Amino acid sequence: MATKLPTRSRSPATTVCFVPAAVLIIFVLLRRPSMDPYAPGTPRSSVSSRRAELYGRMAGDLDERGAAFLKGGETSQSLTLSDLFDVRDGAVVPKLKAADPPVRANVLYLDPEFAAVISKAVKEVFLPHFDQVIWFQNSSMYHFSMFHASHHLEPILATEDEIEAEADAVKRVTEAVCPLKIVLDRVVLTSTGVLLGLWQVESGTDPADIRSKLREALPRAPQKQLYDPVLLHTSFARVLGPPKLPQEENTSSLDHVKFFHDLVAQVNKKIHGFQAKISELWYVEEHDVLALALNGKMKVRRLHLGCNGAQDNWKRMKRTPL
Ligand SMILES: *[C@@H]1O[C@H](CO)[C@@H](O)[C@H](O)[C@H]1NC(C)=O
Ligand SMILES: *[C@@H]1O[C@H](CO)[C@@H](O)[C@H](O)[C@H]1NC(C)=O
Repeated sequence: MATKLPTRSRSPATTVCFVPAAVLIIFVLLRRPSMDPYAPGTPRSSVSSRRAELYGRMAGDLDERGAAFLKGGETSQSLTLSDLFDVRDGAVVPKLKAADPPVRANVLYLDPEFAAVISKAVKEVFLPHFDQVIWFQNSSMYHFSMFHASHHLEPILATEDEIEAEADAVKRVTEAVCPLKIVLDRVVLTSTGVLLGLWQVESGTDPADIRSKLREALPRAPQKQLYDPVLLHTSFARVLGPPKLPQEENTSSLDHVKFFHDLVAQVNKKIHGFQAKISELWYVEEHDVLALALNGKMKVRRLHLGCNGAQDNWKRMKRTPL
């Protein structure tokens, strides 16, 4: 699917043409130079404010770029219905394509107990306006992308044994990572039509630390990762086309951006401040493009966050003669 994206670009930020659109939308928002990669011990408050600042910029994306997803295939980032989805018997169904080589992703997993609350609120607000032109993320698959061992931009081939070794290395990381208590800071709609939840961290191992531990554990991983180290986000839905209009309005008179802002405000009113707990990290081989997002084929290794790092360090110190 990446090769089907138009290669035209309008700004330096869109020159990366081989990233799946869903990933690219995040990537282009985050074109800040990556600075000090959050050395462990960075105070939580400074990471939180970096995160808040990032979320502010992401919230402005729809105003800056407009509802680009309504313009079909005209922009290099748009996710059009025909690229990734079909409508069959009145339902939106993903068109799955094999990812070759498979993408290897590390994601934090949101328990369906929490995801169901969010999914219900999102559907209540959006479904009445977007029958057949919206895709809702499966609430059994809500996730937060952390770190890729291989991605489309920079595929890192690996044998079965190497994949096992990678999964083991990630498991050792998760043993030392503590479960996170998180709070939904805000919901935003990007100019590419993706409804995202942006989260703050109240306790547990910060995503910035998790990413740097994964970087250490996976030395072959692509140098260029797809997300800002502080970002903690979940995709809730993808809007694929224009809303159904009330009879008295017509397309040219409707201010789409305002309409979308109103819907997003309604979702925020329902679930802003929602608290959740993350206790699993998944090492996922995505055998279809965007498998996690589109219910595609994948192999998942579910890893429990053990929070026993301090003990491990202590044992190691005792074992190492000085
Ligand atoms: C959602 O994901 C679960 C778990 O993978 C799966 O069993 C279920 O079929 C999915 N739902 C849909 C509508 O694809
Ligand atoms: C549709 O929108 C155009 C442009 O705003 C307006 O001139 C026209 O009167 C509208 N038509 C209806 C039926 O509302």
